[in-house]
Amino acid sequence: MDVLDILEIESEVSLPKRYSELSTQEMEARIREIKEKFGDRLFLPGHHYQKDEVIQFADARGDSLKLAQICASMDKAEFIAFCGVHFMAETADMLTRPDQKVILPDMRAGCSMADMADIEQTERGWTKMQEIWGDTILPLTYVNSTAAIKSFVGKHGGACVTSGNAKKMLEWAFTQNERILFLPDQHLGRNTAFDIGVQLHEMAVYAPLTNSFEYTGNFEDVKVILWKGHCSVHEKFNINHIENLRKNKPETKIIVHPECTYDVVQASDYAGSTNYIIEMLEAAEPGSKWAIGTEMNLVNRLASEHPDKEIESLNPFMCPCLTMNRIDLAHLLWSLEKLEEGEVVNQIKVPDEVANYAVLSLERMLERS
Ligand code: 13P
Ligand code: SF4
Repeated sequence: MDVLDILEIESEVSLPKRYSELSTQEMEARIREIKEKFGDRLFLPGHHYQKDEVIQFADARGDSLKLAQICASMDKAEFIAFCGVHFMAETADMLTRPDQKVILPDMRAGCSMADMADIEQTERGWTKMQEIWGDTILPLTYVNSTAAIKSFVGKHGGACVTSGNAKKMLEWAFTQNERILFLPDQHLGRNTAFDIGVQLHEMAVYAPLTNSFEYTGNFEDVKVILWKGHCSVHEKFNINHIENLRKNKPETKIIVHPECTYDVVQASDYAGSTNYIIEMLEAAEPGSKWAIGTEMNLVNRLASEHPDKEIESLNPFMCPCLTMNRIDLAHLLWSLEKLEEGEVVNQIKVPDEVANYAVLSLERMLERS
């Protein structure tokens, strides 16, 4: 889904007025009632970045990897109301049976990073890469990508990765071919490749808008081609935040998500997936102090779940992921009330011709996770 699609949907869909007139308590009570009525027929997965008002209703919470694994084994539910973003709902649709219906409560819940790689750009870039490096490249895509990109990757022998298994998947990929195209997040790609021993001068950046490379070395030396995409949330942490903290609160440990830039990851004490951050904070000593470089809803939740530790955002002016935040009580209730009336709204259905290869790239990941 690109920005124009999002705007188009935005102009078409506005919730009936009654949803702005209901109180929070009324909406919560109705959601509870509908969930109870549907029982096992309805399942609500929720990504850790969702707001508290929504995550309280999640039947399972997880990062992208865990939610994909849960959906792949979810055999009971007829309806899956996905509290996350569009690419996650597509993944859920592809990993569930055709009779199971996946709903995204608000179609505007996209991902700006996933929008940074479309299939036309990918085909065009691939042709150029083949001209330079021939048949020596295996593509890997972060799950934060459209089903069409996952399909492209699957068709060319590659796989999906998440932040939780990127290292393992990159190591696997190098057993398959000489070079890796990593899309769409250059930072996760760079941080992970560096972690397994690839040097910075062995990584070229491919800029899809200009169909060109940002690289000054010898093309023969390139081992990883990084797609020029990023997460607009995690890019908001910078080296100044780290320097300020080191100066003013030297006892505070810094932990960041690998979607942050290379310099931020290098200057931090720890870096890892959403799940890794949660587990690190759970295991931390009472009284310890932490600055976290990830999405704000999660940072606030960790702070309230661990009152015995001092937890703050690495960026004091950080805001939540705006697209994740599109899923709110009103949209969740609206989609569930429609379901109660017998109407499935905002169904996410990936066409079979795309899903066939996309599932292959997801399965290659799941079997190694
Ligand atoms: P993970 O859930 O894989 O940590 O990814 C974070 C993210 O940005 C999800 O959109
Ligand atoms: Fe996309 Fe970043 Fe939001 Fe995750 S946090 S959904 S990668 S924009």
